[in-house]
Formats: sequence, structure tokens, C-alpha cells
Amino acid sequence: MKMHLDEKIWLILSFGMIMLFTIFTGYQTFVLGLGPPSNMETIDPQKVEETAPFDAPGVYEIGENEYEVVMILEIFRFNPGDIEIPAGSTVHFTMTSKDVIHGIQIAGTNMNAMVTPGHIQTITQTFHEPGEYLVLCNEYCGIGHQHMATTITVY
Ligand code: CUA
Repeated sequence: MKMHLDEKIWLILSFGMIMLFTIFTGYQTFVLGLGPPSNMETIDPQKVEETAPFDAPGVYEIGENEYEVVMILEIFRFNPGDIEIPAGSTVHFTMTSKDVIHGIQIAGTNMNAMVTPGHIQTITQTFHEPGEYLVLCNEYCGIGHQHMATTITVY
């Protein structure tokens, strides 16, 4: 097969770039340990409501300006919803799904996570500014997906 020199150069360049990115990502994940910190804990999705801490979903004050939110995501709601916390609070979310893959995204923050059945997702977010934060499911989860929303009110 006859190949132009230009073609060869571009093939080598693009293959080299792919290798470079692969090595870089692998180095970050396995050497520097920068892989996703969550999804390490598993749970039986059939028994979410009987398994602690999900047998008591809710908002718990665990310290000064520090809260834990134990949350179940299910079609098509966040349990608990309509959360209220004081400004400056650090909130540790512990979440799982009872049925299908959901997402949780809080508008105006960096918080954005996938919540999959069988796994426990943990993520921490500090809310400095008072206001009403829109919480959305951002993984298509079924016919009522667009109604899966709630708010976090920071007062
Ligand atoms: Cu839950 Cu989309």
C-alpha cells in the first residue's frame, strides 16, 4: 500500500497523541490516585430501605455548620427533597438509587454526580451564598425524568 508522507506524519502524530493522553490519564489515575473517590461502597438495590443509613433518609446536623444528607434517588424524586440549611454549611451527601441510574446536579455549584443502583455515592459541597438552589436529575431515567427536581434553600 502506497502512502503519502503527509498521511504517515498525521497517522504517527494522532497515534502519538492518543498514546500520550492514555499514559497521562493512566498516570493520574493509578500513580497519583486521582480516580473518582466515590462508588467504592456497594449496596443491594433491592434492600435500600432496610439498609443503614438509607433506612432513615434525611438531613442530619453532625457538627457546627456541618450536615449529612442521606438521600435516596428514585423514579422520579429526591428523598429528602426541599432541603433547608443555613449559609456556610458544609453538606456531606450520601446517596444511592433504588431503581435506575439518576444524576444529581445542583445549579450554581460544582456538584454534579451520577447515582447508580448498587453503589453508594458520596460528595461534599459547601453552600456559602444564601439562595434557592435548583437540584436536578441529569441522567435520563424514564418518562418522568424532566419532573425529577427539588430545591436546596440556603438561608
Ligand atoms: Cu432521575 Cu432523570
